[in-house]
Amino acid sequence: MSEQQGVIAVLGGTGNLGYGLARRLALAGRNVIIGSRTAEKAEAAAAEIGAVVKERNSKGSIRGADNLAAAQAASIVVLTVPFASQADTLQQVKPALQGKILVDTTVPLVPPKVMRVQLPAQGSAAKIAQDIVGEGVKVVTAFHNVAADLLRSDEELECDVLVFGDSKDARSEVVTLAEAAGMRAFHGGSLDNSAAAEALTSVLIFMNKQYSGHTGIRITGAGQGGNVAAPAKSA
Ligand SMILES: NC(=O)c1ccc[n+]([C@@H]2O[C@H](COP(=O)([O-])OP(=O)(O)OC[C@H]3O[C@@H](n4cnc5c(N)ncnc54)[C@H](OP(=O)(O)O)[C@@H]3O)[C@@H](O)[C@H]2O)c1
Repeated sequence: MSEQQGVIAVLGGTGNLGYGLARRLALAGRNVIIGSRTAEKAEAAAAEIGAVVKERNSKGSIRGADNLAAAQAASIVVLTVPFASQADTLQQVKPALQGKILVDTTVPLVPPKVMRVQLPAQGSAAKIAQDIVGEGVKVVTAFHNVAADLLRSDEELECDVLVFGDSKDARSEVVTLAEAAGMRAFHGGSLDNSAAAEALTSVLIFMNKQYSGHTGIRITGAGQGGNVAAPAKSA
């Protein structure tokens, strides 16, 4: 088994979403590397999480590195940087991604109107990622609808995760990863379908304001079989 096997890099893991995800994965016993543009910033975030991992006697490990070194050392690379820096970051780490799974969490928000769906001309952030990294990388997208504030907390997560990608095996690995981090996760189909979850985030941001909270999504009916009782015919 290679040294990278089972290691998860979270690029931009110093920020809102990535920090929460890295923390939950390390606490669940996974080997995590936080990536950053600055190795020192990543090391500081990893030290904070590492202290909690130690305190709770988790078997997980966490360290920090610059984004490229983090991607090189992992078999699964999670991208958690703002949409505006998605392309640049992927270009920088592209050589380290070949043959691996890239989990892109990017929601293509265009400030200031983040409560409005504004999908990019390419169709989705997922499509942009696949175009940049090429066919040698299994791109999977997930976590679009999870509130970072909740992810960073110790609260039980009620928000489900939809996972998209053209490789069923890669999707399955990410479903398992999300479950390890404490969420229910579901296969959402091909990478083309990612646009739906990316768009939904603007709806949730709007609802957060409207209803003052951290809204999320919950999938119902999965695994209950396809047969429903037909309504009784009226005489
Ligand atoms: N926040 C949420 O609730 C949420 C929910 C679902 C999905 N998402 C998605 O997750 C991604 C990250 O969101 P976030 O709220 O966690 O973002 P964030 O905290 O603003 O930024 C995350 C990290 O990205 C890096 N970064 C910032 N500007 C950059 C730049 N110009 N170039 C390269 N790296 C840069 C920074 O890391 P370093 O300074 O250490 O390099 C930062 O800590 C976004 O694509 C977002 O759409 C977020």
